[in-house]
Amino acid sequence: MMTMGGLAAKAEEGVEVLHWWTSGGEAAALDVLKKDLESKGISWTDMPVAGGGGTEAMTVLRARVTAGNAPTAVQMLGFDILDWAKEGALGNLDEVAAAEGWDKVIPTALQQFSKYDGHWIAAPVNVHSTNWVWINKAALDAAGGKEPANWDELVALLDKFKEQGLTPVAHGGQAWQDATIFDAVVLSFGNDFYKKAFIDLDAETLGGAQMKEAFDRMAKLRSYVDDNFSGRDWNLASAMVIEGKAGLQFMGDWAKGEFIKAGKKPGADFVCMRFPGTQGSVTFNSDQFAMFKVADDKVPAQLKMASAIESPVFQSAFNVVKGSAPARTDVPDTDFDDCGKKAIKDLAEANTNGSLYGSMAHGHANPASVKNAIYDVVTRHFNGELTSEEAVTELAAAVEAAK
Ligand code: GAL
Repeated sequence: MMTMGGLAAKAEEGVEVLHWWTSGGEAAALDVLKKDLESKGISWTDMPVAGGGGTEAMTVLRARVTAGNAPTAVQMLGFDILDWAKEGALGNLDEVAAAEGWDKVIPTALQQFSKYDGHWIAAPVNVHSTNWVWINKAALDAAGGKEPANWDELVALLDKFKEQGLTPVAHGGQAWQDATIFDAVVLSFGNDFYKKAFIDLDAETLGGAQMKEAFDRMAKLRSYVDDNFSGRDWNLASAMVIEGKAGLQFMGDWAKGEFIKAGKKPGADFVCMRFPGTQGSVTFNSDQFAMFKVADDKVPAQLKMASAIESPVFQSAFNVVKGSAPARTDVPDTDFDDCGKKAIKDLAEANTNGSLYGSMAHGHANPASVKNAIYDVVTRHFNGELTSEEAVTELAAAVEAAK
């Protein structure tokens, strides 16, 4: 930028951001961040890598860093952040974190992934959770209007959707989406079961009778998806519910961003509820911006971005659009809709009650090696390549080999 009179102004501050927020709702939320930074004089260079859950984004990131060309900030999940920190690739946000008192307002469940070796390396932007169901309200009303309280009622509801001529379950056959449903199905057998399976990676639990039942339920749910599910993006599955072509979708609360973007209202057009049997528990994932080591002259903009992300006003504005809860405990829920208020309340309660767990499907229970091993078995089973019996045997073996 040149000033009047031809004097060169100081170099423009800017950030390059790698992310996978490319759906309608995600892009709308990202825009809140872009505009916020632009209002602070920080320009935005966009590096979008499509692909829900970030699998493709992580591949592109690896190539960028290997080429010695790391972006300023990268949207990242849980254990991936720690893996990059271990490699020494991340910067240091201690200065801004200390000045702004992040320690006191960012939940420790998130700090576990925002800090490495006692130093802040990432700025958490939200808290999502995976054990949600998004139901078309008109379809639910036509089926009697009652939210399913347990597995049997869920199956009965899906049968009624079928009778209405709808696709009962809107789903996209991608490994991370299959795994997202698996998070909820496993959690519906109880907190202990989820913890033993995905946090403790207990071989007996992974290979046991209850896990076989969990796979049986996955096979049952698979019988309610349409013929074209293979490879479908998650937001197109959300659109099927929004448009009344499908009854419901099992998906994290980023799905709400799609409903909101389409002008739909919770309670009137759609219903949000916890996956039957998981009320009171939360499997969370937090999008964080991992800050990479960049040239000294780029650090000020990086720190300003981190500071902007943690501002309470921004946290509210962004998460209202994104469908997530704020990454700070002191953000009022005033501007959130009923699903957002529920997300914030559920999260606080689960945190207090010890029923808050990292999402396996979204990188908050295990490093990528273990996560990918679980993905592989869950997807092959979902696609009918493995029986439930075979799946439990393979699951226990694959996790053992990966950990
Ligand atoms: C999740 C991420 C969400 C959303 C979703 C679908 O892993 O936390 O913010 O982007 O993937 O892309």
